[in-house]
Amino acid sequence: MKTALITGASRGIGLATAKKFLQEGWQVIGTHMKTEIPITNNNLVAIQYDQGDTNSIVQAVKDIMSRTSHLDVIVNNAALLIESNDMVADAEKIRTTLEVNVVGLVDLTERLLPLLTKGSHVINIGSGYGAFSASIDGPWAAGYRMSKAAVHMYTRQLAFRLKPQGIIVSAVSPGWINTDMGRSLATETEGPIISPEHVAENVFSLAEITKETGCLWQDNKKREW
Ligand SMILES: NC(=O)c1ccc[n+]([C@@H]2O[C@H](COP(=O)([O-])OP(=O)(O)OC[C@H]3O[C@@H](n4cnc5c(N)ncnc54)[C@H](OP(=O)(O)O)[C@@H]3O)[C@@H](O)[C@H]2O)c1
Repeated sequence: MKTALITGASRGIGLATAKKFLQEGWQVIGTHMKTEIPITNNNLVAIQYDQGDTNSIVQAVKDIMSRTSHLDVIVNNAALLIESNDMVADAEKIRTTLEVNVVGLVDLTERLLPLLTKGSHVINIGSGYGAFSASIDGPWAAGYRMSKAAVHMYTRQLAFRLKPQGIIVSAVSPGWINTDMGRSLATETEGPIISPEHVAENVFSLAEITKETGCLWQDNKKREW
């Protein structure tokens, strides 16, 4: 049975993605921080950790390694957005955001590299907010945007490093998605309409089909970084 680690599987895109992989007969190791994962399945293992805390990451990696000796897919989905309405760049919020969205993601991934082999796939959930090719669309969420740009660059750097081993590394830009995070950016006139299940389908297709490494994907098409 193939095994996927999906971080932030308690809500939103991560939960929808965990459900999709389970439906397709995969074993899923799903992580959560505060919220319990609201589904049960014989093929689902839930692991709690805080991606902003090194000790917690170390413990989570031990738990994961005690459950499996191999990962076919890692979906690095867990992230926070704490500046949805901030029009300034607040150093403390940026520090917190980078610690969870970037440093924690990198730390977790690097510690799990021994579980990856030829054909394994690391999928980092990025964002149009971190894409330099995107049009300038607003002054808010400075730290979050910087964090996603950093996740994109880590994707490229890791793809280059792991290419000789035949391990694929991708980033996904989901679009504006109807989740807690997506709704936090809604205005009186505009809100997110794309479902997390739509992103889950795309992430699953990417995991199953894509052999090209080091790309940023949106709706199953390559997009500019
Ligand atoms: N929604 C959008 O429009 C959108 C657009 C572009 C990119 N994205 C990206 O898509 C991914 C999923 O977003 P979403 O909209 O599904 O977000 P969400 O609904 O806010 O869910 C976030 C998930 O991340 C987990 N998480 C947050 N902080 C954590 C921490 N410190 N340690 C461990 N887990 C933590 C949460 O766990 P708890 O439930 O336990 O708190 C939750 O499972 C993120 O990487 C986000 O940046 C989203």
